[in-house]
Amino acid sequence: MSKNPDIPLQDSGSLSPGGDGPRHVAIIMDGNGRWAQARGRPRLFGHHAGAKRVREVVEACPGLGIEYLTIFAFSTENWKRTQTEVAGLMNLFRRYISREMAALATRNVRVRFIGDRLRLDAKLVKLMDRLEVETAGNDGTHLTVALNYGGRDEVARATKRLAHDVANGTLNPEEVDEETLPRYLDTYVLPDPDLVIRTSGEARISNFLLWQSAYSEYEFIDTLWPDFTAAELGRLCEKFGRRERRFGTVKT
Ligand code: FPP
Repeated sequence: MSKNPDIPLQDSGSLSPGGDGPRHVAIIMDGNGRWAQARGRPRLFGHHAGAKRVREVVEACPGLGIEYLTIFAFSTENWKRTQTEVAGLMNLFRRYISREMAALATRNVRVRFIGDRLRLDAKLVKLMDRLEVETAGNDGTHLTVALNYGGRDEVARATKRLAHDVANGTLNPEEVDEETLPRYLDTYVLPDPDLVIRTSGEARISNFLLWQSAYSEYEFIDTLWPDFTAAELGRLCEKFGRRERRFGTVKT
């Protein structure tokens, strides 16, 4: 079974169809590179501008009724970028976590990280662990940062842990079902995302929350991430509230 006694909140049906705004919003923050290039600046300049938008978006969540925000900061595929860009991003994450995110902690934000930490630099992992511990008592916005995250990788790692539990006799293979498997995912304490937003005009999900977004609504918008604002998030939440979510059923 799951190594954590926390109750999994896999309740994608928590919102009344067509009713409230999204409880959990997940964002693929894309377009930093193009934003920088359009200004004749290096790609890292765009990532720094993108990092600044994170705070505004996190701070807008309580006013919009968003309890959970999950952001895609670095994918398992992003290691294929140039060494300069990868090193610059890792440096940015370290700085961001030690300065900016500590400020978020005082605003009642609970921070979690998902993804495989094994390939990350030990100093960065230490900062991540510390921030999770420091904010564990907060019960405002739940901010989850996907860092070295890939949906397929997550399912593979979950399956490995599940297989170990079967091998050591703590899990009966007959009990493996749609409720059991997600308890082994990195997101086991999070509800499924209601709304997934991708900025920068690309209409693909790029290995983000593959299992969890089975019934999410998607918004692919043209805005480049460094230009994304709380106002735009508000408009997307309003639009979400007008959608009819059926979860496979029919309208009665
Ligand atoms: C995608 O834009 C963005 C990333 C790979 C990095 C996302 C990181 C941030 C927004 C930095 C801050 C995050 C935290 C949590 C500190 P891209 O480079 O693929 O843009 P492009 O498609 O225009 O090239």
